[in-house]
Amino acid sequence: MKLFAFLAALVIAAPVFAAPPESVTLKAKNGDVQFPHKTHQALGCKKCHEGAPKKIEFTKDSAHKLCISCHTEMSKGPGEKACTQCHKKA
Ligand code: HEC
Ligand code: HEC
Ligand code: HEC
Repeated sequence: MKLFAFLAALVIAAPVFAAPPESVTLKAKNGDVQFPHKTHQALGCKKCHEGAPKKIEFTKDSAHKLCISCHTEMSKGPGEKACTQCHKKA
């Protein structure tokens, strides 16, 4: 019975704690950006999400600031001049 209650609680809670996506496509005119969410999670949700994780409204500047400044700082991932490592034309 206890297990059932636990599972029922999980099902009810599921929409609140949406599972993080494996990968996200961020649309851009100059080529969509395939963002590997899973490989970024270990950095800590708060690096990118304020409060509960949800969709992020990006502008070109806010996205570049978030993504590229961290890559530059850590010397990992596509840097400022590596446009086509992020933007890929279909
Ligand atoms: C680390 C990944 C990354 C790199 C490197 C990068 N961008 Fe972006 N860029 C993004 C993301 C993410 C967005 C926002 C997409 C969105 O709004 O959903 C974006 C948005 C843009 C937009 C706006 C597109 C639109 O539809 O409004 C332009 C233009 C752009 N980038 C050009 C560039 C150029 C030029 C370079 C190289 C000098 C570059 N980007 C390098 C990730 C990157
Ligand atoms: C390096 C940045 C970054 C980190 C770290 C990160 N996320 Fe995300 N997350 C994103 C981006 C970008 C999106 C896509 C936003 C969009 O589609 O507008 C996203 C989307 C999500 C979504 C889907 C939201 C929706 O409604 O589609 C969930 C859930 C989520 N993240 C959870 C997490 C959790 C939990 C963690 C920590 C374990 C985490 N994220 C860490 C950048 C990040
Ligand atoms: C808090 C730091 C941080 C932020 C913010 C961040 N990244 Fe990264 N990113 C990394 C690190 C660290 C790696 C290297 C991961 C590895 O090699 O295991 C990486 C790697 C990548 C890669 C290459 C993945 C691969 O498989 O080689 C892409 C593409 C990328 N990031 C896109 C983005 C985009 C787009 C954003 C913004 C929405 C973003 N990153 C925000 C730290 C960050």
